[in-house]
Amino acid sequence: MSRHVISVLCAGALALFSGAALAGGDVAAGKEKSVVCAACHGETGDSVAPDFPKLGGQHADYLLRALKDYKLGNRKNPIMSAQVENLSTADMEDLAAYFAAQQGLVVKR
Ligand code: HEC
Repeated sequence: MSRHVISVLCAGALALFSGAALAGGDVAAGKEKSVVCAACHGETGDSVAPDFPKLGGQHADYLLRALKDYKLGNRKNPIMSAQVENLSTADMEDLAAYFAAQQGLVVKR
């Protein structure tokens, strides 16, 4: 294999990796969209009331799954169903990325 072919293959592999990282949603866009969520879940997803789950630091795919399940009706909760009603898949991905990027619970050892 020529040197040129190898470098093209490497560039391709890099593009795949960075593409996978971006597929998780846009943190900055998620922050803007999260203003409505802050009332209950807190600005950084660290909710103060025990009734509202803490979202900060949770895995993005876990958060996205929860949001999609509310939207599809697989998970039923009148409050959250209303919240996701007008969200697109991209919105939910951005929100999941934003809350996942926040500081999560610190577990004492
Ligand atoms: C009016 C209060 C309220 C608002 C506003 C709100 N939520 Fe929630 N959220 C809740 C409650 C209550 C639950 C727990 C529902 C249940 O038991 O399934 C919840 C659950 C969740 C969960 C599941 C968490 C878990 O660990 O299972 C996610 C994810 C979530 N909310 C995201 C959001 C996002 C994103 C927004 C903004 C678009 C938002 N919420 C706005 C009250 C709210």
